[in-house]
Amino acid sequence: MRNVISGLILLFLGSILLNNCLNSAVKKSVTDGQSLVNKLRKLYSSGDVSKWPAAELDASVKKNFKDIGHLSEIKFPEDNPHSQEKVLLGKTLFYDPRLSGSNQIACASCHDPELAWTDNKTLSFGHDRQLGSRNAMTILNIAHATSLFWDGRAKSLEEQSSMPIIDQREMNEHIDLATGKISKIKGYEILFEKAFGDKNVTTERINKAIATFERTVKSGSTKFDRFIDGKSEAFTDDEVIGLHLFRTKAQCINCHNSGYFSNNEFENDGTAILGAKKQDLGRYLITKKLEDVGKFRIPTLREISRTGPWMHHGVFTSLTDVIRFYNAGNPEAQKRLSTIYNGITLNSQKSPMLKKLNLTEKEIQQLEAFLGTLRSRTVRLTPPTLPQ
Ligand code: HEC
Ligand code: HEC
Repeated sequence: MRNVISGLILLFLGSILLNNCLNSAVKKSVTDGQSLVNKLRKLYSSGDVSKWPAAELDASVKKNFKDIGHLSEIKFPEDNPHSQEKVLLGKTLFYDPRLSGSNQIACASCHDPELAWTDNKTLSFGHDRQLGSRNAMTILNIAHATSLFWDGRAKSLEEQSSMPIIDQREMNEHIDLATGKISKIKGYEILFEKAFGDKNVTTERINKAIATFERTVKSGSTKFDRFIDGKSEAFTDDEVIGLHLFRTKAQCINCHNSGYFSNNEFENDGTAILGAKKQDLGRYLITKKLEDVGKFRIPTLREISRTGPWMHHGVFTSLTDVIRFYNAGNPEAQKRLSTIYNGITLNSQKSPMLKKLNLTEKEIQQLEAFLGTLRSRTVRLTPPTLPQ
């Protein structure tokens, strides 16, 4: 009996001892984790980018790499300099549905300032409520894009701004008719005169004014900008770790970098879905180069939590789903890897930079928390009074 009792006591003491050991191991790993977060917080919010931990970069992007950070100053082109008057004219035109065939659709219909300058739809509705084939992109910070559209087919905002007007599924108007309509509106004379020196209305002037206005559409300060400037308490622990994951284990930094969170290059990230109804050949449609099949312009991630649904086809309805897709290494179904287009066999070749990431559920959540810090406040612009 005594033996049994002392055995039980020993077992009891042993389990207390074991429990204590385990507890202190857990505590130690928590403190280690906590001190790592504190360390990262200090480095990233030091206000000195040179103190940041090194980004884990693919060899192919090292040469022209620009780290994430603040947006740079906006540059206006020499042949279309900034003026307040031109911005006002451009803003007015951006809101004016008379540029469309039906006199009902304005640029602002699909790029709505209250919806982060998009329409928050999978695909946009245009003329006669026809569906387009791509998701509307935000105009925010557009001055930092070096080409426009998902496939980069416009080289400048000046060149771009006529394209939705003549697009039959968007505004569906002949460009000369659109310009003609604006030139007949008396109230526009003074706006053109102030912006360009005389009241002549030309397509070129319309393009230049809209482009100038768009260059002024930029994000306000974000939590991310405040944090890296030294407001070390601006980020939660999860956001700090998310930022670090973005630059290291999750490898987003390879493509989404610079203050714009895009290096403006074209990459295939496994979304071309060749042979499917929603197939999109992307950059290939413009260059006709086989290596460009399924490549899209790397979009900015500033304001990303406000501009869903995501990707050129708007198929992803949550950022968690987007991150899960990257975490799985951007898998493409075997039968979606090739298609025959105009008699030519085209293959989707995903960027070799995209691999399985082995992020845990917690890390996926932390990365998403970080993406959330890239948003600024919704601005309510007063729509301009349309001239009569
Ligand atoms: C019917 C909806 C619709 C209308 C109206 C519309 N857009 Fe768009 N916009 C889109 C879609 C969709 C895209 C992406 C299309 C693509 O990549 O092929 C886009 C892309 C853009 C881009 C490129 C953004 C980037 O990051 O590359 C700019 C700039 C732009 N639109 C400006 C305008 C202007 C200026 C007008 C008016 C003259 C206008 N849009 C009218 C739907 C619209
Ligand atoms: C190899 C380059 C590359 C890497 C690495 C990369 N992306 Fe992307 N990303 C792209 C391209 C290209 C697109 C546009 C593809 C499309 O529309 O189909 C995109 C689109 C997105 C979008 C949708 C943008 C929008 O406006 O709809 C999000 C969100 C995004 N990426 C987040 C991430 C995150 C988070 C990581 C890291 C886990 C990451 N990306 C890594 C190239 C990359």
